[in-house]
Amino acid sequence: MSVTTINRPEAPTGPPKLTRDELRRAEQETLATPRMNYSLLAKMMFKPVDLMYGKQGSFTKFAMLEIIARVPYQAWERMGYWAVQRHAGRSALAKRVFERIVEARADQDNEQWHLLIMQDLIQRHGIKQSWLLHKVAPWLIAFFYYHVSWMMFLVKPEWSYRLNAEFEDHAEHTYMTFVAENPDLEFIPDPGTYADEYGRFRSVADLLRQVGHDERTHKNDSLEAMREPRVRA
Ligand SMILES: [Fe+2]
Ligand SMILES: [Fe+2]
Repeated sequence: MSVTTINRPEAPTGPPKLTRDELRRAEQETLATPRMNYSLLAKMMFKPVDLMYGKQGSFTKFAMLEIIARVPYQAWERMGYWAVQRHAGRSALAKRVFERIVEARADQDNEQWHLLIMQDLIQRHGIKQSWLLHKVAPWLIAFFYYHVSWMMFLVKPEWSYRLNAEFEDHAEHTYMTFVAENPDLEFIPDPGTYADEYGRFRSVADLLRQVGHDERTHKNDSLEAMREPRVRA
């Protein structure tokens, strides 16, 4: 009896998980790389975040950043469905747009794990969060960012990808700088709360380096998307 093999596409697994040595190298690479030239719009989001949560990194600031980090991916996913509909008669383009939707969903999931990891670290360290600063303010910034993202995407997708690349670059540097400035994190074991879903690391320092490297991957994906102008709404 012959068995028919069906080719099923694999869902993207998200950014690669690095070994201990690779994580240390990733930190050095980030610290040796200058930040991108941030646009006025990006600075308009970074500034209030710095004012409200402090210029220095902290688990509460990271949780805030992760809440808003998912937003452009949600906006692109939504715009993508609209574009698939528009390109329905051109299968190759519609397929590529759909692949982009799948990527956007994978990136959203990755950001969601980051958020859960940060909230877990906040709880374990007994850090108090206020309703206004840690619920209302992130929601307001996310609301603003969501609408800016889809409107930019509609007018010129490259603008939206560029803004996200700047946001991811900022996140990458924030995580890696925090690890470099807090050597004691090396001695705090990774609690591994989401080990099955995200992986387990030797220390909280390595866990944060992995998150920082994910942000670099997101940044590079957005920069690459800017160079693929045909796949747009
Ligand atoms: Fe993130
Ligand atoms: Fe990210």
